[in-house]
Amino acid sequence: MPFPAFFVSRARSALACSGLLLATAASAGGPSVQDVSVLAGACVNCHLAGAAGTTSIPSLQGFSEEQLRSRLTAFQAGQVPAATVMPRLMRGFDSEQIAGLARWFAQPAAR
Ligand code: HEC
Repeated sequence: MPFPAFFVSRARSALACSGLLLATAASAGGPSVQDVSVLAGACVNCHLAGAAGTTSIPSLQGFSEEQLRSRLTAFQAGQVPAATVMPRLMRGFDSEQIAGLARWFAQPAAR
């Protein structure tokens, strides 16, 4: 499936918009589905490459929502000593956004 250019451009716009999204999510009491889909664009840039077996980045396939939430929360809390990028990334997300991302990537079509 020829996806890279599409996801790279989505990831770039996700990074550009994340400050605005954080502000709107805070005032609306949590991220909307649309907001989560934009946040998730930054994740698939790395993790779809993992799913394709072309990098050592782990695939997000096969995790339940609860497993994803607990892994992301552990990264955020600094409880995964061997981790490299995920602890830094997760410090930029609040618990509602982490819950939204876990829900998103638990859907087979999203990953
Ligand atoms: C720069 C590339 C990169 C980006 C962007 C990225 N990840 Fe990761 N992810 C990694 C790497 C590398 C690991 C392995 C742990 C580590 O070294 O931090 C990982 C591990 C994980 C794991 C644990 C998988 C397992 O097998 O235990 C989850 C869940 C995860 N990432 C979710 C996400 C989500 C959700 C996002 C978007 C907010 C995201 N990642 C963005 C590279 C990335």
